[in-house]
Amino acid sequence: MFATFLGWRLVRPMTIFVVTENFELPIDTSKAAISTEALRASTCGACHRENYEEWKTSIHSQAWTDPYFQIDWKFDELQQVCKNCHIPLDRQQEHKVLGFNDAEKLKPILADNPGFDAGLQHEGVTCAGCHFRDGKILGAHGDLEAPHPVEKLADANEICLHCHVVQGASWDTFFRYPPCGTAAEIEAGAGRWQGRSGEYTVRNASELGCVQCHMPAVERSLVDGGRVRQSRRHLWRGGHDPATVKQALDIRFTETGDHAADRRTFELSLTNVGAAHYLPTGTPDRHLTVRLRVFDAAGKTLAEENHALKRTTMWRPFIIDLWDTRLPRGQPRIYRIEIPAAGKSAPVAVEAVVRYHLLDEARRARIGYENKEPIAYEVFRRRLELLRTQ
Ligand code: HEC
Ligand code: HEC
Ligand code: HEC
Ligand code: HEC
Ligand code: HEC
Repeated sequence: MFATFLGWRLVRPMTIFVVTENFELPIDTSKAAISTEALRASTCGACHRENYEEWKTSIHSQAWTDPYFQIDWKFDELQQVCKNCHIPLDRQQEHKVLGFNDAEKLKPILADNPGFDAGLQHEGVTCAGCHFRDGKILGAHGDLEAPHPVEKLADANEICLHCHVVQGASWDTFFRYPPCGTAAEIEAGAGRWQGRSGEYTVRNASELGCVQCHMPAVERSLVDGGRVRQSRRHLWRGGHDPATVKQALDIRFTETGDHAADRRTFELSLTNVGAAHYLPTGTPDRHLTVRLRVFDAAGKTLAEENHALKRTTMWRPFIIDLWDTRLPRGQPRIYRIEIPAAGKSAPVAVEAVVRYHLLDEARRARIGYENKEPIAYEVFRRRLELLRTQ
């Protein structure tokens, strides 16, 4: 019996998150008397030119067309639920969701959707996906003279929580943080979170700071010729942007103080100084690697140390977070390498290289993702010459 059960758990389709109210259904636009034309990003962009130009360069505008998403979605059996965050409006989806065949809400009852628009679908997380609710445009100001109805948000971070907070609490999972636990990681850093296996409720959205970091403030008019107001960049830079990752990391590579007679040690220290959550955060694919090497004069490697900074989870038969070596905010991580005593050839230099990975090579190959953009990039490289002191 138990063997059969375990066998099933080894091959069953995997769902690593719990479907909750915030994203179980697409956003309903059918009751509002608004045309599909008016919902398009380009329509908003005719008036809000700068927001539009910025959004177009962001990963949100590619949340559907992103080739990695497309391949992964097919690999994951084209589940409807993925759409509710990657193309959140009902008119972006080919099907209406009438209800569910199961308590987990993973098997939706689907019907044709006459309101579907393929162009709108290609906009991924479009303007209206964040701003449009019940016929109104949500904004931070509220009392503006806009040609469309607006509603003041209690806190702008609430918009992010629609898609960036996911639950992983179920009888068979043992997550330290819920999947994509960005918000829980921030609370942990502030001492407000004790892991309760994947369960997470936002207590106070304004303490999370997502908008403050990911949408830097700028004074500008919201429409051409309008009044200059406090506004925010619509760029949402993250792991896809080397500059964002680099500026969040303080990395030093130096010789340690302990000079034993015949031994020299070098250390690399990495500190997450720019992200309130772990670095990296988001999907468990994201990780950093560290490589320390000692070379001889001919460029041959004499010693090498490799480390991965990542969240390691056992997926089958149960989901268990095994260990997590990512960088919490503000806590330096140190890796050391010792220079070997000169053998056949003398060591002449020591080098540290740190790389950020959107996903690892094994997963890329397994799902058959033929990437055109690199899946990893360098964030730090330093070579120190070993000056002989005697
Ligand atoms: C991922 C969610 C998201 C998307 C997508 C998005 N916005 Fe916003 N937008 C926000 C948030 C959050 C604010 C409020 C920021 C603040 O606290 O001032 C905002 C503010 C605004 C404002 C008010 C002034 C300003 O610039 O801050 C305008 C205008 C605006 N957005 C237009 C757009 C347009 C046009 C698009 C599409 C091209 C768009 N937004 C896409 C989240 C989003
Ligand atoms: C015909 C021009 C026009 C179109 C089209 C338009 N807006 Fe606006 N919008 C405005 C004006 C004007 C304001 C007020 C600006 C001001 O007072 O500074 C405004 C204000 C806003 C605000 C700020 C609201 C607040 O309370 O903070 C947001 C957000 C916004 N628009 C988003 C959108 C989105 C999203 C779309 C597309 C679905 C859109 N707008 C379409 C002209 C337009
Ligand atoms: C409607 C769902 C939705 C909302 C609302 C939303 N996001 Fe996202 N966000 C996504 C999806 C989906 C992706 C991943 C897209 C992809 O890479 O395919 C993403 C990606 C990101 C990234 C990663 C960028 C990178 O380089 O990988 C950041 C940062 C981000 N969002 C911040 C925010 C912030 C801040 C807010 C609130 C203002 C927000 N998001 C609101 C769905 C959403
Ligand atoms: C103190 C600034 C800060 C705050 C607050 C913050 N972030 Fe970030 N975030 C960053 C930086 C810097 C990065 C790039 C480094 C990394 O990936 O951790 C990042 C990366 C990300 C990514 C990219 C992950 C990926 O897969 O590429 C996402 C998604 C994200 N943040 C979402 C959020 C959300 C949601 C919140 C609020 C719950 C938030 N962030 C709060 C600074 C911040
Ligand atoms: C609750 C909202 C939500 C649901 C449901 C969801 N995603 Fe996402 N997805 C996101 C957000 C937010 C990000 C970006 C932040 C991050 O890195 O975690 C993302 C990122 C991704 C990425 C990484 C994209 C990149 O460019 O690196 C892939 C792939 C992905 N999702 C696939 C899926 C698949 C497949 C499903 C369905 C099984 C799914 N997602 C369901 C919100 C969601």
